[in-house]
Amino acid sequence: METVENKVVMRFPSKAANIGFARTAVALFASQLEFTLDELDEIKIAVSEAVSNAVIHGYKGTEGEITVTCRLTNDRLEITVKDEGRGIADVEQALEPAFTTEPEERMGLGLVFVREYMDKLEIDSEPGRGTSLFMIKSPTQARVHS
Ligand SMILES: Nc1ncnc2c1ncn2[C@@H]1O[C@H](COP(=O)(O)OP(=O)(O)OP(=O)(O)O)[C@@H](O)[C@H]1O
Ligand SMILES: [Mg+2]
Repeated sequence: METVENKVVMRFPSKAANIGFARTAVALFASQLEFTLDELDEIKIAVSEAVSNAVIHGYKGTEGEITVTCRLTNDRLEITVKDEGRGIADVEQALEPAFTTEPEERMGLGLVFVREYMDKLEIDSEPGRGTSLFMIKSPTQARVHS
């Protein structure tokens, strides 16, 4: 059975200043597990891409709430980044490298990085309702018990 060992929920307005907050806060939470520094960097990038997308695309031109939930269960980290913004019309297309709805300004690579750096990525989105990214990552190094 799954044991939830720890859980933190953060809810904040979609201000750019909070991207860095979420990124660092999740990395601190993640450091309860034995991630390498490289893995912690990957988690930071994934979180900032997910939260940036909520700010830039989800709440484009408006402000709304973003909820980031971190859970620690049996040596794995689960992160959910949720907005109640515009939603994504075609999730498969959004995941394609270089696909962006803002070709003048963006590269369309954020979700590619998230998928690359996390062990699992699930996107649940509905136009007009919002978007939720569910991510899982576990430390790859075998635990060293002394
Ligand atoms: N939270 C979200 N709400 C609404 N649309 C989103 C959200 N996240 C992603 N999208 C859509 O998916 C597309 C691809 O996202 P992705 O992060 O890969 O690229 P990008 O944000 O356009 O560019 P980059 O991340 O390289 O700056 C976005 O252009 C946007 O249309
Ligand atoms: Mg992006």
